[in-house]
Amino acid sequence: MRVVAVPPEEFGAASLAALRELLAGVEAPVIALPTGNTPVALYAEMVRQGYRFTHDARLFALDEYCYPRAHPGTNAAFFARHLPPADFPPIALTAFDAADPALEIERICQDLHLAGGLDVAVLGIGVNGHLGFNEPGSAPDAPCRVVDLTEATRAQVAGPWQPTPTRGVTLGMDELMAAKSVLVLANGPGKAAILAAALEAPQTPDVPASFLQRHPELTVVCDTAAAAALSAVQRA
Ligand code: PGA
Repeated sequence: MRVVAVPPEEFGAASLAALRELLAGVEAPVIALPTGNTPVALYAEMVRQGYRFTHDARLFALDEYCYPRAHPGTNAAFFARHLPPADFPPIALTAFDAADPALEIERICQDLHLAGGLDVAVLGIGVNGHLGFNEPGSAPDAPCRVVDLTEATRAQVAGPWQPTPTRGVTLGMDELMAAKSVLVLANGPGKAAILAAALEAPQTPDVPASFLQRHPELTVVCDTAAAAALSAVQRA
């Protein structure tokens, strides 16, 4: 595991530098991308630097909400805001209003497996230790699926939603753990405790992110606030 901790203002640039490194020399890369507050600085840095994925890159959203109508809180809306569709390849994700979300996530997961699985999984960490919508209780081999969101997750995202979605679809722990490399991003003091639990406490389904400890190619980019509870960090 490699942990890079940087001052908050360098978080976006350090995140992109790490991603570039992991993608160097990878042909037709298959990449999972997160949403939420954490990757905003990464995507802003991509836009600022004019960074482009290679033309043969395949992008998969880590997760999506199930919601009956268009809403700015959906991950589809998030990606449209942060990664201009004119400059970035399409991102595979289920329709938020899919009549049969289980069928849609299964189809996307099949596409992912046909593409050879993930080269790089870019992940945030939920305050409850979830990865994507692999909520607490998820085994390390949990598959792509529809999930009931926990109260903690619903509270975390509640702001813009009325009402808050109750279900989502997610790539599975299985697909994330099988990625050739994993890039975990975490920033802000609110992530200090969960980052330490994920990286340094015993592995447990109560904190699905703790299973990342067994991943052979794990890079963590965090800011100094999120790194505060780690026992030892490598300063960039
Ligand atoms: P956040 O969410 O980036 O908005 O903190 C991360 C997550 O819940 O996975």
